Amino acid sequence: MSGLAQSGAAAIDRAHLAALTAREQAAFAERNPRSRALFERTGRTLLGGVPMCWMSLWAGGFPLFFEEARGNTITDVDGHAYLDFCLGDTGAMAGHAPEATAAAVERRYRRGTTAMLPTADAAWVGEELVRRFGLDAWQFCLTASDANRYLLRIARHLTGRSQVLVFNGCYHGTVEEAAIELDGPGGAPRPRHGNLGPMVDPRETTRVIEFNDVDALEQALAPGDVACVLAEPALTNIGIVLPEPGYHEALRELTARAGTLLVLDETHTMSSGPGGWTGAHDLRPDALTVGKSIAGGIPIGAYGLRREVADALLGTGVELDDTGAFGSTLGGNALSMAAARATLEHVLTEETYARTIPLAARFAQGVRDAIEARRLPWHVVQIGARAEYRFSATPPRDGGESAAIADPELDAYLHCYLLNRGVLITPFHNMALMAPTTTAADVDRHVDVFAAAADELLAVA
Ligand SMILES: Cc1ncc(COP(=O)(O)O)c(C=O)c1O
Repeated sequence: MSGLAQSGAAAIDRAHLAALTAREQAAFAERNPRSRALFERTGRTLLGGVPMCWMSLWAGGFPLFFEEARGNTITDVDGHAYLDFCLGDTGAMAGHAPEATAAAVERRYRRGTTAMLPTADAAWVGEELVRRFGLDAWQFCLTASDANRYLLRIARHLTGRSQVLVFNGCYHGTVEEAAIELDGPGGAPRPRHGNLGPMVDPRETTRVIEFNDVDALEQALAPGDVACVLAEPALTNIGIVLPEPGYHEALRELTARAGTLLVLDETHTMSSGPGGWTGAHDLRPDALTVGKSIAGGIPIGAYGLRREVADALLGTGVELDDTGAFGSTLGGNALSMAAARATLEHVLTEETYARTIPLAARFAQGVRDAIEARRLPWHVVQIGARAEYRFSATPPRDGGESAAIADPELDAYLHCYLLNRGVLITPFHNMALMAPTTTAADVDRHVDVFAAAADELLAVA
């Protein structure tokens, strides 16, 4: 992002920002000798020094190695306790190791987890997902990426069409078709940065348009070759981009008219309520994916189909086995099912959302007040139990606008400042999620530290 100066708004001195970030990173290195030593050690055996490449993308220069995570608190190997608003980027929306899930997982593991047979928990979980999301027939896998991938294949199989449509700035996990973006405002599609060794260029499989643009949607669907639209109900992976009033109605109507399946990915918007955005706003997708949070941190992905879609699929005479590269041995395993049952029955309940959503509102309001008091041209957006601040005066309307306001320098400073004071938000942008155990005092602590970081930023000598 270029300068932040807007008329009447406080401006950021970039040299001062760089000096503050350097100070915070030095303090981080000093404060975390054990994590630093472990990172040096893992650098000798793990690619990039971490078990999963994105784990190194933290502002301090190396990741904290954690010892224990419980509820909304993380303790690292250097003995520091953190208020965790990152919550595993949604994987721990139920809080870390919630008691009911921990007990169910322990019980189930001791009684076996993978036998090529279902358990009674599958019956309960299936009924609960139908109740929450209104989709009629469910399947399970181990990641939300896989859930999306399977639905794209089902959509292509059912429609006989090759193309999928996604939105600029989307992220749907490791789905190759979605690794595409627009090259600037009004630009042409291009593979996304970091799209390694794709099987085919995503421009061959995928149409990409801006969110909230009904005309572009109509045009993209017009040739009649799009098998499905894969969409988050609100974009959450390029900051938050909310749908404008009427957009979901248009999306539903235009996809139905074009014979294109509408697939909603609720992996992150599960923060909206027990049935995700779909349940909270009474949407009617043809299929839906969810993952990460619903088994309390035990691997799971799930996808649901509308009855007509499920019947059509079975009616094509397909054999739902794995020889066609569809399925996985541990998908739907008894441990995932037991964890999902316990989490949905006892943790991510209506009562929990009734607590966490107002906490996110308190978080958003606290940050908003701090921003306004300092006349910073920044804004905050909330989706249920999740809130996020960004560095523009008004929220972006699509992925392109959202990409344009990205400010990695400010992100790095704020994230490191927060880390050094025991507060953790999601590393890639500024998302904060409320766990069932998060308290108003935790939220206020973040606001205080955020305000102090902003004050230092504006206090140019
Ligand atoms: C909207 C959305 N869908 C799918 C995924 C993929 O989830 P997983 O990493 O569990 O495959 C993500 C991951 O962040 C996501 O944000």
